[in-house]
Amino acid sequence: MTLDDMSSWLRAQPSLRGSAPPLDLRTLPDLPHVLFAQWILAAAGEGVPEPHAMTLATVDHEGVPDARTLILKDVSERGWAFAGPRASRKAEQLVTRPHAALLFRWQPLVREVRVRGRVQEASPEESAADLAARSEAARRDVEPGSWVRWWLVPDRVEFWQGATDRRHTRIVYERSDDGWSLSTPAAVG
Ligand SMILES: Cc1cc2nc3c(=O)[nH]c(=O)nc-3n(C[C@H](O)[C@H](O)[C@H](O)COP(=O)(O)O)c2cc1C
Repeated sequence: MTLDDMSSWLRAQPSLRGSAPPLDLRTLPDLPHVLFAQWILAAAGEGVPEPHAMTLATVDHEGVPDARTLILKDVSERGWAFAGPRASRKAEQLVTRPHAALLFRWQPLVREVRVRGRVQEASPEESAADLAARSEAARRDVEPGSWVRWWLVPDRVEFWQGATDRRHTRIVYERSDDGWSLSTPAAVG
């Protein structure tokens, strides 16, 4: 295949090939991290490798986006946690623009989750505990203080489940002063 054939090769590649689990929209939890826990556990149960790997998107000081893969460290009512070196592009970008988005994709279940919100640096103790929990090899040459845990505090979490007949499902949680509201707008894609 030459590069000239790339467009037709891409068009011929199948997508949305997994098998979406049954989803009852009448029994959704009130809080997004609860549904997230159900979905990541379902992904693990289906044998998805590294279901806790996610894309972290940030923007630089000029508003230009950036993205990379990270490991999810925790999820709770507080938000979604991730960690990395202070001397990094992501750390620099989060200082200048403390907003981010996370993307999880679990192909066999035809599911993705998008999380958006503000990012807060965890306390030095929490970052040190995160570093201490890493493997010895991963800790080598990393000093406490140079490793940071962050919490993404979401204001919007979207769960998307694809269907082969293109009748996809979208579940959106949005935060307001009154707490979380839940909607299921028409899904596209
Ligand atoms: C599966 C996988 C997991 C990763 N997990 C992390 C992580 O938890 N923290 C991290 O800082 N980098 C992680 N990386 C490396 C990042 O993708 C990225 O290359 C690195 O953090 C530098 O990004 P930056 O230059 O935007 O700061 C991971 C990469 C892969 C492929």
